[in-house]
Amino acid sequence: MAHADRAIRDLLAAAQEAMANAYAPYSNYHVGAAVLTGGGRVCVGCNVENASYGLAICAERLAICKAVSEGEREIVALAVVTDGEAPAAPCGACRQVMAEFSPSGDMIVVWRGAKGKPQVQTLRDLLPWAFKLR
Ligand code: THU
Repeated sequence: MAHADRAIRDLLAAAQEAMANAYAPYSNYHVGAAVLTGGGRVCVGCNVENASYGLAICAERLAICKAVSEGEREIVALAVVTDGEAPAAPCGACRQVMAEFSPSGDMIVVWRGAKGKPQVQTLRDLLPWAFKLR
């Protein structure tokens, strides 16, 4: 599993770097995400807020959409880093978007806060019985 551990560490480092670009003047809560695609590509995202609060885009969904816009259709692993003390798992809306690109539910999801150990789960465990049309 050393190879997988290294891949997860690299993904967390990419998410941490992306967090520096978070645009969060309203919540002051900074989030970075990185995805590893089926094609072996790493794409990153950060949260992007708006004066119309409900339009905020989560870091996870931005990273996924960037990967899809590059032609990727499968996400193998996703890492999230926040600057809040407690590790924060991806929100429900992001889990549904994640399910679209990991139909098996095998996606490895890891998240880390400013303190404490990273948490790891499969998407299957984070979102059982995901809504699907195919
Ligand atoms: N946020 C994310 O980027 N990912 C999540 O999974 C949950 C929340 C962002 C949205 C908003 O900019 C800020 O965190 C506070 O909710």
